[in-house]
Order: sequence, then structure tokens, then C-alpha cells
Amino acid sequence: MSHHQTVAVFGAYGHTALFVLGELRRRGLTPVLVGRDRDRLHALGRAYPDSPVRVASVDDPASLDRALLGADAVVNCAGPFADTAPALIDAALRARIPYLDVGAEQAVALETFHNRQEQARAAGVVVVPALAFYGGLGDLLATTAMGDWPEAEAIDIAFGLDSWEPTQGTRKTGRRNAGRHVVYTGGRFVPPTENPDPTLWEFPEPLGVQEVTEFSTADQVTASRHLRTPDIRAHMNLAPLRDVRDPATPAPSAADGSGRSSQTFLVDAVVHRGGQRRRASASGRDIYAVTAPLVAEATARVLDGRIREGGAGGVYAAGELFDAEDFLRALAPEHLSLDLPARAENSA
Ligand SMILES: NC(=O)c1ccc[n+]([C@@H]2O[C@H](COP(=O)([O-])OP(=O)(O)OC[C@H]3O[C@@H](n4cnc5c(N)ncnc54)[C@H](OP(=O)(O)O)[C@@H]3O)[C@@H](O)[C@H]2O)c1
Repeated sequence: MSHHQTVAVFGAYGHTALFVLGELRRRGLTPVLVGRDRDRLHALGRAYPDSPVRVASVDDPASLDRALLGADAVVNCAGPFADTAPALIDAALRARIPYLDVGAEQAVALETFHNRQEQARAAGVVVVPALAFYGGLGDLLATTAMGDWPEAEAIDIAFGLDSWEPTQGTRKTGRRNAGRHVVYTGGRFVPPTENPDPTLWEFPEPLGVQEVTEFSTADQVTASRHLRTPDIRAHMNLAPLRDVRDPATPAPSAADGSGRSSQTFLVDAVVHRGGQRRRASASGRDIYAVTAPLVAEATARVLDGRIREGGAGGVYAAGELFDAEDFLRALAPEHLSLDLPARAENSA
């Protein structure tokens, strides 16, 4: 890296952001702590003496400009993103620095792809919405499974979670996006099926066969941007959906010194073409914590130029911007256990 690089993290004291700070530092990037609550920001700053602290609000564009001054990129961790992404993308475009966020909101990601493409291209700024457990991982796996196939009849992305203890941010985001969920079928986004019947999905072991139901995820938005297929079906097993819908389910808690909870996940992407199937899956621990290496790895790759488009500006999905398989392998085995198609199959 040519100089000491800094990354503004908006919403720096949030649950997911705290993991992001650590993963940025592990990649030699200095986080700038940005958020709207002065006290919480300064309290956090005591744990990060090398990190500048900047109070900023989405209602005050000048405060965002000051917060991004001198930063090499911005990672938005403050959700609901419907409330923060437009102002932060505007600020990143003014500052001409890459913007990445960890949003799970389909509607926000769709708006970002539709409304910001021309601006981002004109400004030469890379914008990457939904680079996270939802939105990023399934897209990277589906892209890897697709390999050299130019198109596919359908893609399934199945999420198997042992449980889902939602953060306050997840709960607020769920309320903010009520009624805005979609599924991708027949080459377009349509409202989800009402009361869909459960089906069976055969996850790799140890999960095995599970009852799953139709699920709406940002991965349908990101993957449909660049993988040629009319159907991206997402599924989730039933236990985590019961958890997240139950107001009594507690927030996640650290199971060890890493801060990660004991919650486990398996994401299984299957691509169908001409009677053949290709599959790529990843498992790991803590859907919030794993978001951090995903977005920090993406930030590092954007900053050091390991991107497919050679630095041209635009709005991108992870699988479109990066070498998906190389990206996933960089997170294994520490953050992800991978089961990917053999390379020979993909280059055949
Ligand atoms: N795609 C994924 O897989 C994935 C993974 C992890 C998280 N997420 C998303 O990331 C978001 C944060 O989740 P979390 O678990 O970190 O929740 P959290 O612990 O509740 O943190 C939320 C953070 O966002 C800030 N924030 C919210 N609204 C804001 C606004 N209008 N202006 C400024 N700051 C604002 C909060 O600051 P205040 O306390 O001052 O409100 C806090 O710093 C949620 O939308 C969640 O869905 C997505």
C-alpha cells in the first residue's frame, strides 16, 4: 500500500461494526470512528487510540464530509440502511472514495443499483451495497458454483442456521422493511408467496435434511445483477425464522474472547443447468461476526486494486467485483469452512 490507509466506519459502535473495526485493523487499515452519538463514540475511541473519532449525522451533509475527509474508503454499518445509505453514498461520491455497506435490505440494495449506477460511474467511485452475511456470502458462493457456465436455469441459495438471536439493529431493520420483501423469479422481482408451504432441503452434513421455507434475502438482489438466470430461489430452515420473529429471543452474546456467539450457519448455493448441478457451500459461526471479514476483505481488495473492473466506478455486487473463489478462500479456514467445486470443473 502506498500510504497508511484509513477507512471511515459509520455506526462504529454498533454490534456488527465492532467486529468490522477489528477486521480492518487486521488488514493494516486504520478505522476512523464515525457515528451520531458523541458519548458512545468517544467511549469507543478509548479502546482505539490510533483511530480518529468524528461525530456525524445523516441529517447534516457537512458533518459527513468532515467525517470522510482524508479517508480512503467508507464502510457503512449503520442500519436500517434505508435511513443511512442515501446520505452516506452521496458523501462518498462527493469525497470520491469507495463506499461499502453491510445492509441486508433488499429494497435499499435495489435502489442503490438502480439509482446510483450512473453517478458512481461518472464519479469513478466503487459502490458495493450488502457486502455481508446476507447479500455477500450467498452471491460469492453462487458465483463460484456457476464457474464457467454463462447462464443457468435456476440458482438455489439455502440458509441453514441453528438459531438466530437478532441484534437491536436487525429488529429495527425488520420493522423498517416490513412489506418491502421480494423474491426473484421469471427474471423479475415479485412479492413473496403468502404463507409458503415448507419444503425439504438436503444440506451437506452435519445439518442434513431440513424443512425450509421461501426466504427473501439481499443475495437475490446482488446475484441477479450479474449471474444470468431467471430464478434465484432462497430458502431458510424454520428454527431461525421462529427465533427472529419471537420478540422474546435475546440479542446475541459472546461465547468466547473473540466476541463471537456460538450460533452456527451453513450457506449452500446450487446452480442448475441442463440437468447438471454445481454446488458451493460455506459454514461458520456467528452471522454478525462473519460479516466483518467479508466487508473488510472487500474493502482491502478495492483499495489495493484486486477487483475485476480495474478500478472503474459503478455499483457492484461482490461476485461481480471480485474473483469470488479467491475471495472465499482468503477467509478460510479461520472464518469459513468451504466446500467448493473442484477448480478443474469450473475451468473445464
Ligand atoms: N446483511 C447482513 O448479513 C448483516 C449483518 C449484520 C448486520 N446487518 C445490518 O446492519 C445493521 C446494524 O446491525 P447491528 O447488528 O450492528 O445493530 P446495532 O448493534 O443495533 O447497531 C446499529 C448501529 O447503527 C447506528 N444507526 C442506526 N440508525 C442510524 C442513523 N439513522 N444514523 C446514524 N446511526 C444509526 C446505531 O447508532 P445509534 O445507537 O446511535 O442508533 C448503531 O451504531 C442492521 O441494519 C442489520 O440488519 C446486516
